[in-house]
Amino acid sequence: MKEILKEWIKFLKESQSEYFPWLILLKGDDYESVISSIRKDKGFTVLGKGGYREVFDHKSDKEHVLKLAREEGSSFFNYSEKVVSDNFPTVFPKVYSNHPSYLWIVCEKCDVILAYEDEKWKVGLQRSMPKLFAFIKDVIFEKYKLETGVDYSFLSHYQIFILIIASIASKTKSEIYYDPTHALNIPKETYKKMTDDIFNFGIRYENWVLDLSKAIQRFGVDANDLTEGNIGQSFEDGTLKIIDSSIFEKKMGEYRS
Ligand SMILES: Nc1ncnc2c1ncn2[C@@H]1O[C@H](COP(=O)(O)OP(=O)(O)O)[C@@H](O)[C@H]1O
Ligand SMILES: [Mg+2]
Repeated sequence: MKEILKEWIKFLKESQSEYFPWLILLKGDDYESVISSIRKDKGFTVLGKGGYREVFDHKSDKEHVLKLAREEGSSFFNYSEKVVSDNFPTVFPKVYSNHPSYLWIVCEKCDVILAYEDEKWKVGLQRSMPKLFAFIKDVIFEKYKLETGVDYSFLSHYQIFILIIASIASKTKSEIYYDPTHALNIPKETYKKMTDDIFNFGIRYENWVLDLSKAIQRFGVDANDLTEGNIGQSFEDGTLKIIDSSIFEKKMGEYRS
């Protein structure tokens, strides 16, 4: 059995190395060996570090990242990223390659966006959900201006993104979603009606909304994590991608325990 696995690992490495020649630089199959080969090669740069993964790119390839699990248990996050990406590529960065037990994955590199980068949120929304974006600006804001006297075009594009996520979270059986009404400066009653309108339109006309709703239902993606720093823009087409998702919440989804 060990021999078969060895051969298999060799096969995977060889075929993957055609697409990602820098993968050959990763020596060994355990964390210590992999991290020491990364440190030895000057071509790798650390792009970021989270609680579970350390993320690198290689100077010979600016389109992909390597996400290395920092501890054995953390490979699970690489595995779950692969599962959601395979099922919902509209919403999650593509995972191109993986270590047999998910010590690392190779993912599509994204431009991570922070709240104040308004233009990036605007372009991201336009590219990911153009119909919903136009509907919010031209119909929703107009409707609620007439109804309440408040012009909601003061919302930043990041706040519009949060409003969309809130709309999806309130209609899918997500973990209890935090109440963003204070941060968005929208009265609770208006917020309730607005998120209903946004969800009803979005789920019909935008795959991004439909796929994220399904990902929440099926895999328990936690909508509370879908905030700045965890969202990036695809370099390929400018759409918004969830780069770090907490999934498989205990209480829901296919993997509920
Ligand atoms: N696909 C990606 N493209 C570009 N940078 C990324 C990507 N994935 C992660 N990063 C960077 O690496 C950091 C850590 O990755 P993350 O997925 O958040 O790991 P963790 O699960 O440990 O929190 C992120 O905050 C981000 O800066
Ligand atoms: Mg993170």
